[in-house]
Amino acid sequence: TNIILLGPPGAGKGTQAHRLVETRDMVQLSTGDMLRAAINAGSPVGQQAKAVMERGELVSDAIVSALIGEHLDDAKGKGAIFDGYPRTQHQAEALEMLLADRGRTLDHVIELKVDEDALVDRICGRFSCAKCGALYHETAKPTAKDGVCDVCGSTEFKKRPDDNEETVRKRMAEYRAKTAPILPFYEAQGVVREVDGMGSVEEVAAAIDAIIDG
Ligand code: AP5
Ligand code: ZN
Repeated sequence: TNIILLGPPGAGKGTQAHRLVETRDMVQLSTGDMLRAAINAGSPVGQQAKAVMERGELVSDAIVSALIGEHLDDAKGKGAIFDGYPRTQHQAEALEMLLADRGRTLDHVIELKVDEDALVDRICGRFSCAKCGALYHETAKPTAKDGVCDVCGSTEFKKRPDDNEETVRKRMAEYRAKTAPILPFYEAQGVVREVDGMGSVEEVAAAIDAIIDG
């Protein structure tokens, strides 16, 4: 199964992708995570992407499509969860080629429908485990034990530099201007499935499971 998780910043794409990876034979392909790894590694791609991401703008199509191609090769034999990609019409077309070249087909585009005002709060309250990347939220999903990661037991956490209100507003504007307009491309293929992203993490997960299991 190959799926795209589509939705604005904070819609819950990463949270749901992590869960799918734990429960199924699927791999998460998050361009945001790939870019942050490139920044941490100090690679040329990372050096180019850093300032762009801190402004909340989109990194170039060529860079992200190349990253996806590399990681898709590593995901051989497993289902792919595209998280945060594609984000432009150009990327949507590039993905068609990447999938076709590898004999994969796109099964579902899961559109997480959310209320934008709630997203600012979700994002500004987000933090993650510095060791395993598990996602938390200051009020909605704190760690079960004070300051200890439920998944790996680490006590170190971090926040993303682009998770401040100003940058979040910019990221949302980019979503409305460049990403939401690719929906008709997928609607024409009959693969778009809407999910209410405002429910609890478990409710959203159940809706996604129902779609994948058909
Ligand atoms: P990226 O890393 O993709 O960020 P994003 O799309 O802005 O999405 P987020 O990671 O903020 O949100 P999410 O939907 O994954 O939500 P999450 O599950 O964490 O991109 C970052 C930047 O990289 C971009 O701005 C751009 O510069 C660049 N980039 C990346 N891909 C690119 C591309 N293809 N082309 C060009 N540039 C690209 O949840 C958020 C919070 O809410 C968490 O705290 C979580 O615990 C909580 N939460 C989740 N679900 C629920 C729920 N149901 N109820 C309550 N709380 C919840
Ligand atoms: Zn952890």
